Amino acid sequence: MRAVAVREFGAEPELVEVPDPVPGPGEVLVRVDYASLNPFDWQSADGLLEGRVPHVFPLVMGTDFAGRVDAVGAGTERFRIGDPVFGQASRPPIGAGSYAEYVTMPQDSVISAVPPGLSLESAAMLPTAGMTAAQILENAAIRECESLLVIGATGGVGTALTQLAAARDVRVLAAVRGEEKHRMGALGAAVTIDTTSADLATAVRDVCPEGVDALVDLVSADPDSFAAGAALVRAGGVALSTRSAAGQAPVQAGIETVDFELAASSELLDILAVAAAKGALKPPIDAEVPLEKAPRAIAKSRAGGARGKTVFVI
Ligand SMILES: NC(=O)c1ccc[n+]([C@@H]2O[C@H](COP(=O)([O-])OP(=O)(O)OC[C@H]3O[C@@H](n4cnc5c(N)ncnc54)[C@H](OP(=O)(O)O)[C@@H]3O)[C@@H](O)[C@H]2O)c1
Repeated sequence: MRAVAVREFGAEPELVEVPDPVPGPGEVLVRVDYASLNPFDWQSADGLLEGRVPHVFPLVMGTDFAGRVDAVGAGTERFRIGDPVFGQASRPPIGAGSYAEYVTMPQDSVISAVPPGLSLESAAMLPTAGMTAAQILENAAIRECESLLVIGATGGVGTALTQLAAARDVRVLAAVRGEEKHRMGALGAAVTIDTTSADLATAVRDVCPEGVDALVDLVSADPDSFAAGAALVRAGGVALSTRSAAGQAPVQAGIETVDFELAASSELLDILAVAAAKGALKPPIDAEVPLEKAPRAIAKSRAGGARGKTVFVI
């Protein structure tokens, strides 16, 4: 089958031919129609989890997918051939990913049915970004917040988080780079701050003089940058990082810090699928590209500038 893979950590992604996977007992074989891009896909191909999780090479990249069940292994009862499904192919060893014509998934792993009213393409954009946004909002302190500053709001997680938080009447302050007021406002952001033309701290204090209740920083990888954002949180509030920057950050006392790690599940996928089928969550498409052009799209993701999700048509 065709797939996009790297031959070693840090190598350029390339289109390759690899053997078709075969479903084992309790597994389904999914014919992938769409895969969506997440920064984790190239971060892990660069070796993010080297030494911590086993990998196989050529390492077929990708986690998120949607498609149809093509075959089932012995003892597989949860799905039937032809069922529309979506999920996150992230079990170890890393290297049997979703940027491919086929992927195998244990039936009890992070895979769910695509409900009527939800396209396969939309479903493919949901797993990692949608589950992350939904689970961040389950954090006790963030669940109760009235004002939420999202740094990096224009990307996959940020656009999902903005929609889900706004639906709960949270006042979302979207920190972005560029003129994105219209786009972010349409997703539910109350305030959009272009950090290339405005000072973030001044803009936040104009709206929330005491500071925001919560910060979700999707961008800062270094503790000092994270701490600068956390300084805009009011005493007793919470500051969360998706980039492991919170733990070592010099954050003022009285602020709860969280290094978020997604705990993916098919139950969470089901919740997202229902929300998306009802139109309550609309993952915005940044780009739709054929699998052959994935290497260029991956390079673009590395350079930044995501505006929603990039989807690969397999
Ligand atoms: N820990 C976990 O479990 C977990 C789960 C999901 C995601 N993540 C991580 O969270 C990060 C975000 O994920 P994603 O899928 O949303 O990525 P993404 O789709 O690439 O979006 C990142 C967004 O941040 C914006 N951005 C970059 N620098 C910025 C800055 N200084 N100020 C404001 N905006 C900025 C980018 O646009 P511009 O470049 O145009 O500004 C882009 O829109 C990734 O590093 C991902 O690996 C972690």
